Amino acid sequence: MASETAPRKIVLTRICHAYYKYQDMDRAVKWFNDFGFTEEKRVNGDEKIYFRGYGTEPWVVCAVKADRDEFAGVGYVVESEDDLRHASETLPKATQIYELEDAPGRGKCVTFYDPVDNFPFHLVYGQEGAGVLEIPLPQEPVNYPFEKNRPKNHFQRFQKRPAPVHKLGHWGHCSTNYAKIYEFYTSRFNLIASDLVHDDAGTDITCFLRLDRGKEPVDHHCFFFYQGPKFHVHHTSYETHDFDTQVLGHDWLREKGYKNCWGVGRHVLGSQIFDYWFDPSGNVMEHYVDGDLVDDTQPPHRSKASPDSLHVWGPDVPSDFLE
Ligand SMILES: [Fe+2]
Repeated sequence: MASETAPRKIVLTRICHAYYKYQDMDRAVKWFNDFGFTEEKRVNGDEKIYFRGYGTEPWVVCAVKADRDEFAGVGYVVESEDDLRHASETLPKATQIYELEDAPGRGKCVTFYDPVDNFPFHLVYGQEGAGVLEIPLPQEPVNYPFEKNRPKNHFQRFQKRPAPVHKLGHWGHCSTNYAKIYEFYTSRFNLIASDLVHDDAGTDITCFLRLDRGKEPVDHHCFFFYQGPKFHVHHTSYETHDFDTQVLGHDWLREKGYKNCWGVGRHVLGSQIFDYWFDPSGNVMEHYVDGDLVDDTQPPHRSKASPDSLHVWGPDVPSDFLE
């Protein structure tokens, strides 16, 4: 039986970071600062630049100087060094375990390649965590018509600024063989479906996967993919503090002349308030707030694909968002 010979699952504990390659590093640095990252470390001038969020990850994005602009993979933390060894021995085109020598927090890594579309995927273990960055964030209670939570004579004053990034929350891509990679990622990792979306014929064409961490609450999805004719990374998504912070960040990017992709709006599956932007190379990056948390008591939900299932409020879905 296949189940007797299938390798055991590799246990992921969280999504942690992403790599992007850029020809124009000055432009990339400006983008990441305007998007709300904090520069953490430069390697060999501007050969590699690591940016952090204000959470406990030592870094969240690494910009790598290259001949062409390209997505270069997302990283997930695995539960043990044994998971890393097992990954190296069993995953497609997996590297040996190597040291993240120049990365803040260092750690060990194995890179493998998606079995259908051949993009890199990184697994990390043994990084040193970072302290939370102390930045001023609004914590004022919200007033409702019948429930006034903010003390009287207490004012809200906001600062115009980028939306500080807390962490990488999820990412997704268009796969040329959805069924094959659904089987791959859900059988080789502790990834389970929160939502499955099917076409008119009842065939699943999109999934939103979360980590199976038992009773521990996890984000509704940390990885999604959907069937399409040509592989591309759809977006990476970064959590920021709250709605005001997000919309202040939206205004900041707009005033700096960046191109908005879609937002601000509220998703249905996962519930996040989203705001998608193009970086100067055309990669889509999202700020999100207020996503759902779930645990293993929540079964997968199935629904039919429809523009209405994407968002409940916000601008109309741009046609190229669905490509
Ligand atoms: Fe997203």
